[in-house]
Amino acid sequence: MLALASLSGESDAEWARAGAAHADLAFLGGVAVDDASREAARQLVARGREEFLPEDPIAFVDRQLTALDDAPIRAGVNVRSATLDPIRAVAARCAAHDAVIEINAHCRQDELCAVGCGERLLRDTDRLADYVAAASETGATVSVKVRAEVAGVDLPATARRLDDAGADIVHVDAMDSEPRVADVAAVTDAAVLANNGVRDRATAWEYLAYGADGVSVGRPSDDPAVLQRVARAVDDWTRRDTGERGAFG
Ligand SMILES: Cc1cc2nc3c(=O)[nH]c(=O)nc-3n(C[C@H](O)[C@H](O)[C@H](O)COP(=O)(O)O)c2cc1C
Repeated sequence: MLALASLSGESDAEWARAGAAHADLAFLGGVAVDDASREAARQLVARGREEFLPEDPIAFVDRQLTALDDAPIRAGVNVRSATLDPIRAVAARCAAHDAVIEINAHCRQDELCAVGCGERLLRDTDRLADYVAAASETGATVSVKVRAEVAGVDLPATARRLDDAGADIVHVDAMDSEPRVADVAAVTDAAVLANNGVRDRATAWEYLAYGADGVSVGRPSDDPAVLQRVARAVDDWTRRDTGERGAFG
């Protein structure tokens, strides 16, 4: 599986369609969906970052997913929230569109962490597990985006906890610690999507050899040459894995 990873302010339905020739899944957003995370996003914009800040974030998600209902790529939505209710609301919209809700336990900007979302959720696994369980109860496919290299966070233990709470996908930004993907894949039944620096066959295969079920591309997700290269690498890996005759058969 090849996914496109969220780039705030950029990853909308148009971006997803542009990558549909090569990718299977596109995570729109991140979208800040409650008052506290929206205030944090406003502060990020004030210091020059791109953010989605629609008037009504839930309606925005619904419009974006509707725009992709007939697209040849599955949609996901990466959400930031300091509170549970908007997670449930977005998950219900995702379930209705057969889209994936991705809970953002990844963004590390101070403004987001200060209000208790993004990477901060990795230190509050009870609340993160509650988000996952509530989202899962709506019938939506649930992904959680996590990050390696967060001091004091035991990522495999977190992944197990998320698995128990009902997560279907653990999306791991490995940072510069690629082998952490193997540690997570070893302990979870959820699909593992590996991220960071995936640009070509070598970088994709490294993660797949660690046991990832798929990889995602963030910064060059608008570069068809990179996406084509990575998509071919993933296809070749799958054929090789299943013993089918392909380029490496
Ligand atoms: C400008 C920018 C905005 C991003 N916004 C988000 C976001 O909103 N949510 C999220 O989970 N990750 C976000 N990310 C992280 C990317 O999805 C990805 O994890 C990271 O860039 C590493 O993957 P890459 O090496 O393929 O770019 C952002 C990254 C960048 C550079």
